[in-house]
Amino acid sequence: MSDHSENHGKIFGKLWDGIHGGYFSNKEVAGHLISAAMSRINPLSPPSTIADLGGGTGFILKELADRLNTQLINHSIRLINIDTSDAQLTASCDGQICTIHCPLEAVTRQNLLLENDINTRLLFLMRFVLHYFGSGGIGNAIVHIRRQMHPGECFIHQSICFETTDEAAVVNELFHLSGLNKWFPSVKQLSDMLDANGFTETLVKDMPALPVTSRDFAERYGIDDKQLSEAGKVILAKYGEVDGVFDSNGSEFTFYLHCRVFISEAV
Ligand SMILES: C[S@@+](CC[C@H](N)C(=O)[O-])C[C@H]1O[C@@H](n2cnc3c(N)ncnc32)[C@H](O)[C@@H]1O
Repeated sequence: MSDHSENHGKIFGKLWDGIHGGYFSNKEVAGHLISAAMSRINPLSPPSTIADLGGGTGFILKELADRLNTQLINHSIRLINIDTSDAQLTASCDGQICTIHCPLEAVTRQNLLLENDINTRLLFLMRFVLHYFGSGGIGNAIVHIRRQMHPGECFIHQSICFETTDEAAVVNELFHLSGLNKWFPSVKQLSDMLDANGFTETLVKDMPALPVTSRDFAERYGIDDKQLSEAGKVILAKYGEVDGVFDSNGSEFTFYLHCRVFISEAV
């Protein structure tokens, strides 16, 4: 998987934290996922490894490390950022965080634990990554993640999903028309996939949606003006404006990426 794939976007590394109005480096936004993770870390018996799958510039792990430090939770926890992008991982230098440059679907439990770990428990985190697998790959990604886990371990993720399949269809079609192979499920579709693959899923929180303007969208993925404008027009003609999902003034548009935080426990 290349860093330069159109599907992955052109803005990574040092510029990443500034995109989408700083959403990905906003402590308050990150706080929801961090709190969900902290709710599953027992201070008396913390996991030996916490791995952020597609952890980007490591913002979530840095915030988590701060929270663990403040609460004086055992520092032998290994924090690992796994990502396919060199640019992202290069921006992720922090003494406490190890990096693995690898697709998450190639990482195994054995890669993340040491033989002499006192306990051998894993906690997985993930934010805004499942959609990268597309409609054909998301199920396999969930299966792979589950296979690395033991019962009782948690996969805590903030994933894009829409209230209804109709809402998801608007944004899925917009991405498709823009040449991007990403896929967004409805909340129910994602919940069903988690259930079917060995997770009990606790839906934690409905998060504020991330607004993406057509300008941001074009810049992030290098979409040219003609394709962008045609995609916006097709969506407007087919669906009209969709409350909370797609707004347009005719030439420019904004869409909203809805997401939830899930605590998915392996059964
Ligand atoms: C939208 S960014 C989110 C980054 C980070 N999780 C955050 O919330 O700031 C998605 C990240 O997933 C990474 N990624 C995409 N597909 C991946 C895969 N198959 N394995 C590992 N990382 C992947 C990308 O390189 C990118 O850093």
